[in-house]
Amino acid sequence: MSEATASEKTTTSGQLTADEISNLTRQTNYGTWRFQKNWKPLHIADAEGCWFTDGAGKRYLDFSSQLMCVNLGHKNARVVESIAQQAKDLAYVSPGFTTESRARLSAKLLEVLPQGMEKFFFSTSGTEANEAAFKIARMYTGKNKIISRYRSYHGSTAGSMAATGDPRRWAMEPIGKAMDFVFAPETNCYDCPIKHTYPDCGIACADYIEHMIRNESDVAAVIVEPVVGTNGVLVPPPEYMPKLREICDQYGVLLIDDEVMTGWGRTGKWFCVEHWGVKPDILVTAKGITSAYVPLGLCATTRKIADYFEDHYFSHGHTYEAHPLTLGPAVATIEEMQRLNLVERAAEMEPYLRGKLEALKAKHPSVGDVRGLGLFFAVEIVKNRKTKQLFNTMRDKVEGKPLVVDQISAKMMAQGVSIQAWVSHFVIAPPLIVTREELDFGIAALDEHLSIADALVDR
Ligand SMILES: Cc1ncc(COP(=O)(O)O)c(C=O)c1O
Repeated sequence: MSEATASEKTTTSGQLTADEISNLTRQTNYGTWRFQKNWKPLHIADAEGCWFTDGAGKRYLDFSSQLMCVNLGHKNARVVESIAQQAKDLAYVSPGFTTESRARLSAKLLEVLPQGMEKFFFSTSGTEANEAAFKIARMYTGKNKIISRYRSYHGSTAGSMAATGDPRRWAMEPIGKAMDFVFAPETNCYDCPIKHTYPDCGIACADYIEHMIRNESDVAAVIVEPVVGTNGVLVPPPEYMPKLREICDQYGVLLIDDEVMTGWGRTGKWFCVEHWGVKPDILVTAKGITSAYVPLGLCATTRKIADYFEDHYFSHGHTYEAHPLTLGPAVATIEEMQRLNLVERAAEMEPYLRGKLEALKAKHPSVGDVRGLGLFFAVEIVKNRKTKQLFNTMRDKVEGKPLVVDQISAKMMAQGVSIQAWVSHFVIAPPLIVTREELDFGIAALDEHLSIADALVDR
């Protein structure tokens, strides 16, 4: 039966099989960040805790919390109830009004955000929250340029894509992206882009940003993921963030802390920047703020920035800004994280996870590096441990070539473990409620299928 005939049949019968659901979706929807032709979306029917279930009833361990966002795990009863309650109480009013959930969430945010983050703009995604951050930084400083780093992802809309260093930006260049974004080298002590070695380097990657600020002029802000997420779970050396803060202060440049992925307990602190006691000027987050149950993003600023707009036009907004249906569930999410002590739990689980992953590195010649914080780790695979040559390149990824990481993750999926992979590494970021047994189950699958990469290493 052709796909078209299948979809016609399903719409009239009302009973959809898993195949029909998948076919109808692929015919009529774009699959994100991919060539469309081999997209066969798996029908997911249910999810609970650290597991989800497909239409055929097969269960999968959610080893990367979907897109590193379901921090509470699936189907948390209180959050589910808060969604229903908010829908019953008040589904929508325009952002010029306020609601009880808006006030309650704002009070909760003052409690859990890094000290100094005092005024909030709500969006419905991380990319929009970053767009707000860029506009606020530009309006406040009267300057234009934003410095970002090559290995970064800040979102898919024009400004956030322009700030994204990774190859997802390439398709939009030069006309599809916003202007005035410039790139610095990232901090990557495993494979330093400027060929230094920590600690002798004196944190040269931060010095390079100072050099850029001096030579670019007109710099409004520097944006960083405090631990780079999708692009490698790159943990900076302890001196990096404090040094960057100092440089920004010296030149009157704002520091934007993109915690879309690293926030909400993921790294064993409420927010990652707290590992180094650094206070950003603007903090952006999304994902874990509602454990992804409803779409919410946040751009938070200091009081100093907020005060500026008392007498200057705040030229930004959305119909769905502070959408009530997103705010009630955020309050419930934060309360659940506090009740279950999930931030502390992520920190406590770190040594266990690190130990398990270090054991994989000792065993598998294809594992080049293991790095991370809390329940947020990368396992990077290499063809050659000495030269650190990767199996695939960024270009392979955007040209849709088969990647070694994808072969491994497909085998893991068949075995019931869902894991995110990107060019040459896997991201291990389970829900923060994960048990040791669940970690063991996921790592055993990775252990088994790393043999695919082991067979391809240079001998
Ligand atoms: C660090 C970072 N910033 C921004 C974004 C964009 O968030 P969203 O996909 O909600 O637009 C992401 C998404 O993965 C991210 O990881």
